[in-house]
Amino acid sequence: MDKILVMDFGGQYNQLIARRVRSEHVYAEIKAYSRITVEEIKENGYSGIIFTGGPNSVYDSSSPHYDKAILDLGIPVLGICYGHQLTAYMAGGKICSAGSISEYGKVNLKIKKNNPLFDGIPEESICWMSHTDYVNEIPEGYEVTAVTDVCPCAAMANEKKNIYSVQFHPEVTHTEYGQKLLHNFIFNVCGCKGEWFMDDFMKKSVEEIRAKVKDGKVLLALSGGVDSSVCAALLAEAIGKQLTCVFVDHGMMRKNEGNEVEEAFSKWDINFVRVNAGERFLGKLKGVTDPETKRKTIGEEFIRVFEEESKKIGSVDYLAQGTIYPDVIESGLGDSATIKSHHNVGGLPDYVDFKEIIEPLRLLFKDEVRELGRELGLPDYLVERQPFPGPGLGIRVIGEITEEKLSMLKEADAIFREEVGKNRLANQYFAVLTNTFSVGVMGDDRTYGYTVALRSVTTDDFMTADWTRLPYEVLEKASSRITNEVKGITRIVYDITSKPPATVEWE
Ligand code: XMP
Repeated sequence: MDKILVMDFGGQYNQLIARRVRSEHVYAEIKAYSRITVEEIKENGYSGIIFTGGPNSVYDSSSPHYDKAILDLGIPVLGICYGHQLTAYMAGGKICSAGSISEYGKVNLKIKKNNPLFDGIPEESICWMSHTDYVNEIPEGYEVTAVTDVCPCAAMANEKKNIYSVQFHPEVTHTEYGQKLLHNFIFNVCGCKGEWFMDDFMKKSVEEIRAKVKDGKVLLALSGGVDSSVCAALLAEAIGKQLTCVFVDHGMMRKNEGNEVEEAFSKWDINFVRVNAGERFLGKLKGVTDPETKRKTIGEEFIRVFEEESKKIGSVDYLAQGTIYPDVIESGLGDSATIKSHHNVGGLPDYVDFKEIIEPLRLLFKDEVRELGRELGLPDYLVERQPFPGPGLGIRVIGEITEEKLSMLKEADAIFREEVGKNRLANQYFAVLTNTFSVGVMGDDRTYGYTVALRSVTTDDFMTADWTRLPYEVLEKASSRITNEVKGITRIVYDITSKPPATVEWE
């Protein structure tokens, strides 16, 4: 299979580059520049290398550099932004500060010299720039292939060596022909075939899982979220009865969620254990109002229940986890790079007696996980599911959690999700049951009930998020339905804080 190396120099769009490449059905992997040597690059058989952008200037003493032997490997290279400047620098060119002519945002790009990278791209188009340095002297053997009104080298190429670089960012959608340029690099320059397809991935993974697990037993903690559900479906396809999914229903799932999860997995011949532990969790949470204590209590209880169940199953060889690619990328500027270890359900492994952890989704981005889920026949409501925190509605009921409050919130939340979901207006949207009471009137009677806050955010990565400007009609419909259909709720407010300063969740 063709592979493209995305060499990360600390750029904020590195994941986007890999995703854009993969959308052309070519596998791309991201490696921090400091974590791969020229030798390893050679051994890995990459079809092409993309240098990402980065926050540094090539002349800073601390800026990330690379062995210039990389340009003599005969592997096609595409440098982007800092990667463009670094390519020029490594090949003997000069870079200088752009000063007052720094470019940021949409800029008119003019192609000066056509080449395989610009195939099908008009002479003038819009590109997206973000740079404070520029290449002012190109290296020997290279030629300037595009300019902007102020940037004398917006792109350069050494066609003989298959080395190309661009000052702009083809990976962001603001660059009109960005995807086309990446397509050209991958196919025209690198000669890739485009063989990265989810059905192939599925078949290969199934074979690999079978070969590894042989007749062993695999245990998976199924949370009902997208990643663990797809992981479960893949394992179910591969090893059937050797898989046990333990689905701990802590009673704080969304409306109908527990049944939906159970139903989706009934089509496979696997061991599916649903533990209805709602009462047990609520018992532990009695009187608990502090958000951190709630989270800890739910997390710990989850582990206890899972532990008990796995003991009942006995002698498990493998623990499976739904870790996905963004959780394992060794990224960033090298020394400070950290590898996140992520659990769908926090802190599971230590106590289960198992040989190894298996993570069949570790190569996939979220959108690919969804695609694989569909390939495996999981229903849309599971595959398209928005993120849902492990502690569930427990952190969306403010104050003490009770059965009554949970049931009100489940109804209100289902209505709001139905109304917003009709038009796919936001990335995450839910209801929160606040601890505030207010007076209302219904018919001739005075009511005194809960205030529900509606929360809807638009975001790429959930690290930052904007509150969604939902149409008034959607808010009106949700408000009117909730107050009419859910007893005990008298008032609806809409949360208009972004992250930061707020977080997405209320607790
Ligand atoms: P915050 O509230 O931190 O949320 O802005 C960012 C995203 O993370 C989700 N979230 C969690 N997910 N376990 C999870 O698996 C948790 O404990 C948890 N807390 C928050 C939240 O729903 C949002 O998508």
